[in-house]
Amino acid sequence: MTMINAVITGIGSYTPDRILTNADFEKMVETNDEWIVSRTGIKERHVVSNGSGTSDLALKAGQRAMENAGIGPDDLDLIIVGTVTPDYQVPSAACIVQEKMGAFGAAAMDVSAACASFIYGLTSASGMIRSGQYRRILVIGAETLSSITDYTDRGTCVLFGDAAGSVVLEAKEGNAPEGVLSSVLETDGRYAKLLWIPVGGSVESYDPDSEGKQRIYLEMNGNEVFKVAVRAMVSSSRKVCEKAGVSKDDIALFIPHQANIRIIDAVRKRLGLPEEKVFVNIEKYGNTSSASVPLALDEAVKAGKAKKGDLVLMVAFGGGLTWGASIVRL
Ligand code: ACO
Repeated sequence: MTMINAVITGIGSYTPDRILTNADFEKMVETNDEWIVSRTGIKERHVVSNGSGTSDLALKAGQRAMENAGIGPDDLDLIIVGTVTPDYQVPSAACIVQEKMGAFGAAAMDVSAACASFIYGLTSASGMIRSGQYRRILVIGAETLSSITDYTDRGTCVLFGDAAGSVVLEAKEGNAPEGVLSSVLETDGRYAKLLWIPVGGSVESYDPDSEGKQRIYLEMNGNEVFKVAVRAMVSSSRKVCEKAGVSKDDIALFIPHQANIRIIDAVRKRLGLPEEKVFVNIEKYGNTSSASVPLALDEAVKAGKAKKGDLVLMVAFGGGLTWGASIVRL
């Protein structure tokens, strides 16, 4: 029986040129390279220069993915941008990307699931393709976390960076499953305030006369988030393998959200995966939220760590708390 599969036909990413090293943070807050590297695995992160927004990063990553797929803006049916840092509160970052790209035949929307936004976007896109609604969707994870980071809080500022990653997802008829084989999305809103920005939404709006006393930056209970992150990433990885009918030994490459090297190691050990099957680039970029997984996927493919036909397991975790995993045959 013929089925419609949702297949990744192009991958791209983009990181801004400006780099903040651990030495730069030693001048900004009370911290040091040894603490940051041993507690997080991060050595540097890329950040935008003033005047650039999430749509600029998203545009470049999206264009690279489309070039890789051999398609142009007129070919797109839909643009999905996963982000917690859209250029504006209204409209969505995806609308700005659509305009900058000139993809006027494509619908556009954002998906907001913090660091899990790319997996949520990929899962939504895959469902829309498999149902026959759309044939070509550009899925982007893009963040300018530097715009919501408190650079006086050493507990969070050393962690975050800016980046974008993207895939083109296309419909392909076939007799056997390929492309996105299965996905799992999970949420627990009881943990909403472990990782949040208290001010700037509909409950407490930003007051320009507050003289900097309002809580307008990302706040995190790192310890608690850490514990849930390990449990959640392990459990969704197992669930998504079971759903796809594959064992962990079939996985060629595991691409976890790059939030903390200790989280990645703990998840890897619990899943029983060898180190060489786990992709890590956190030392260069820090935590780039929605961009983390597609940026890693792009680097992994370019480095030859995953090739056509390989099974790749991607798993992400973030504010909400939200988490999810996808298994893709490249
Ligand atoms: N430099 C030096 N010391 C520091 C720093 C720093 N940058 N940051 C914190 N410390 C200190 C703390 O003040 C504390 O000192 P104290 O013992 O005197 O009070 C000590 O180091 C230990 O602090 P902890 O918070 O317990 O450190 P921990 O080992 O838990 O590491 C970290 C903190 C890196 C934030 C970790 O908890 C973590 O990675 N959590 C998960 C983050 C995550 O996964 N986020 C995902 C989603 S992000 C998103 O959705 C956008």
